[in-house]
Amino acid sequence: MTPKWAEAVVVSHSPATPDIAVIDLAPADDAGFPAYTAGSHIDVLLDSGPVRQYSLCGPPEAGHYRLAVLNEPSSRGGSRAMHALRVGDRLRISAPRNRFPLVTARRHLLFAGGIGITPLLAMARQLEAEGGEYALHYCARSRTRAAFVAELAVNPRVIFHFDDGDPGQLLDVSRDLGDPRPDTAVYVCGPGGFMDHVLGKAEALGWPPRSLHTERFSSSTSATAEPDSRIFTVRLASTGAEYLVPADSSVLDVLLENGVDAPYSCGQGICGECVVRLVTGDPDHRDDVLTDDERAEGQFATCSSRALSPTLELDL
Ligand code: FES
Repeated sequence: MTPKWAEAVVVSHSPATPDIAVIDLAPADDAGFPAYTAGSHIDVLLDSGPVRQYSLCGPPEAGHYRLAVLNEPSSRGGSRAMHALRVGDRLRISAPRNRFPLVTARRHLLFAGGIGITPLLAMARQLEAEGGEYALHYCARSRTRAAFVAELAVNPRVIFHFDDGDPGQLLDVSRDLGDPRPDTAVYVCGPGGFMDHVLGKAEALGWPPRSLHTERFSSSTSATAEPDSRIFTVRLASTGAEYLVPADSSVLDVLLENGVDAPYSCGQGICGECVVRLVTGDPDHRDDVLTDDERAEGQFATCSSRALSPTLELDL
């Protein structure tokens, strides 16, 4: 199952900061875009470059999709290509998917690091519209490197933390998150180092994993770069077909090479599109998308995870 693509046209493209572009997309035909909920993302497929995921940060009712894209020189080229788009350019996008939704809670604490503001901005808008109790902590290197500052500055529930600001306004997770509360849901999105910092402190404060909701923009591990990657066999439950997975290939690579119609999108362990059910075997989970509960239920990301046992049998 491959993603279904829709044609979109760039209707606005403007700099929010020196390295963040805000891009508005409209449908290229009369069909319109599907509605989405706060926390959703879309896949973007450019003629050049890989498939990339971007959170939708604009008001859902606008009929357009708004993305904010950080130009990352170290990326695989997707962000540069997005920055090079011009009004009128066309690109293909997937329908929105949401693996980072608002959950039912009396109180919501949102922690954004840099470009991680994008899904949390949509969440803050939704909570504001619903009269929800929330606070948004927005960390950035400086005010000039932070997107949407003017919009957020008028919201008293938004607390800025700028690295170059007064020490007293820097993020202090112990102070700004505080002790665990069962009525509170915590959302964290941003670069890996930021997320590891906030989540590490949250864990040290005693917050249970079920209260912590996260989305990463890049994988924290690489399936094929791990020195302990081992060869194993993957078996399809439907046909019994078996394929060898070399140390330098992913399960997904092997499935696709052998003509198996396996689902996928990002190939980095962050979107969840490749997740299938594990029937038997001992998995070595290396994705950044499944929760502990989902892993315990037998879910398995074929693009990034591997095996600790000689064979994995998948529900394919
Ligand atoms: S394809 Fe995105 S998590 Fe595997």
